[in-house]
Amino acid sequence: MPAVPARRIVTLPGDGIGPEIMGPTLELLNAVGEFEFEEHVFGGASIDAHGTALTGEVLDACRRADAVLLAAVGGPKWDTTDPHAPRPEAGLLGLRKELDVYANLRPAMQGNVDLVIVRELVGGLYFGARGVRDDGTVFDTLEYHPAQIERVVRRGFELAAARTGSLVSVDKANVLDTSRLWRRIVNELAPEYPNVQVRHALVDSFAMELVSSADRIDVAVTENMFGDILSDLTGELAGSLGIAPSLNASQDRAMAQAAHGSAPDIAGHDRANPIAMILSTAMLFDWLGARHHDDDLVQAASMITRGVEETVAQGISTPDMGGDARCQEFAEAVAATIKKP
Ligand code: NAD
Ligand code: IPM
Ligand code: MN
Repeated sequence: MPAVPARRIVTLPGDGIGPEIMGPTLELLNAVGEFEFEEHVFGGASIDAHGTALTGEVLDACRRADAVLLAAVGGPKWDTTDPHAPRPEAGLLGLRKELDVYANLRPAMQGNVDLVIVRELVGGLYFGARGVRDDGTVFDTLEYHPAQIERVVRRGFELAAARTGSLVSVDKANVLDTSRLWRRIVNELAPEYPNVQVRHALVDSFAMELVSSADRIDVAVTENMFGDILSDLTGELAGSLGIAPSLNASQDRAMAQAAHGSAPDIAGHDRANPIAMILSTAMLFDWLGARHHDDDLVQAASMITRGVEETVAQGISTPDMGGDARCQEFAEAVAATIKKP
């Protein structure tokens, strides 16, 4: 055990169902260990309070913390086509970029399906040059430096090596130069990972493959935007987007977030599924535990994961999974499995 356990965690509930899933998740975490939570306003709520989705103060707090827990941001209140209006999503993108959490892990499990999407998170179409030309044309560009590709592809190889040794790199190399660069880098790195079988797939037919035969896929590594789209698909394939966890990480920083959004259509109705948020924190604890050699955190992660599985096996679930449990009720049921001797 390190002298000072790495448990100072900034929490960012955000908007919509964000606060609804964050509250019960934190109560559950208090049942598995001792943490120092520091809550901050973020996203749309921060635009309302401070005129910007991510204040310098919150960014500094996130930098100082051992880790960040984020629920979700955004909503119709801040949806505007005005290019100059502040957007909640800009806070999330800014935080990812500033913390440089370049690898986004999005696992999906259901029946025979057990896969992870490794999504590049701080480059590509989300962060390339953008602007307006004199003739009114608006553009976003997909850009990658080779080093940005290499570091995330390495995470894909490493994860595949630790699992079943099968990696698929997903791109659009029949059209895009960035994808051809991506492919070249994957091929150059492959000999360094002799225990991993790697293949390439085009993103459109890979979407088809996910629907027809996701059980044959282990680890997929891909560009930011492709990974965003494919991971909502795999979330729903696993039963509900509301159970899709997600960890944003670099070598020395991590941020847990649910893969889903602020679900404005159900916000305020106490119907939100907290599983994605809860399992994201389990992923975070696993990461923190490994990094700081804190076995208690690794154990807390597996207790949380088992608790969720056990609760669902007891037939307790929220409406998106066909049940009638409230968000809080579900989290309490998970906590009860953990407290049992
Ligand atoms: P969404 O993920 O919020 O919702 C899609 C559908 O899934 C909705 O029908 C919603 O009710 C359902 N759903 C999502 N999470 C659920 C949960 N935990 N329990 C039960 N049902 C759940 O996507 P959207 O509606 O396209 O986006 C809404 C807002 O969220 C947008 O402003 C978007 O930018 C933002 N967003 C934020 C994040 C984030 O902060 N991490 C991620 C994705 C989208
Ligand atoms: C996600 C979300 C974000 C993304 C948005 C809210 C910026 O959809 O985490 O998947 O596109 O990355
Ligand atoms: Mn998304």
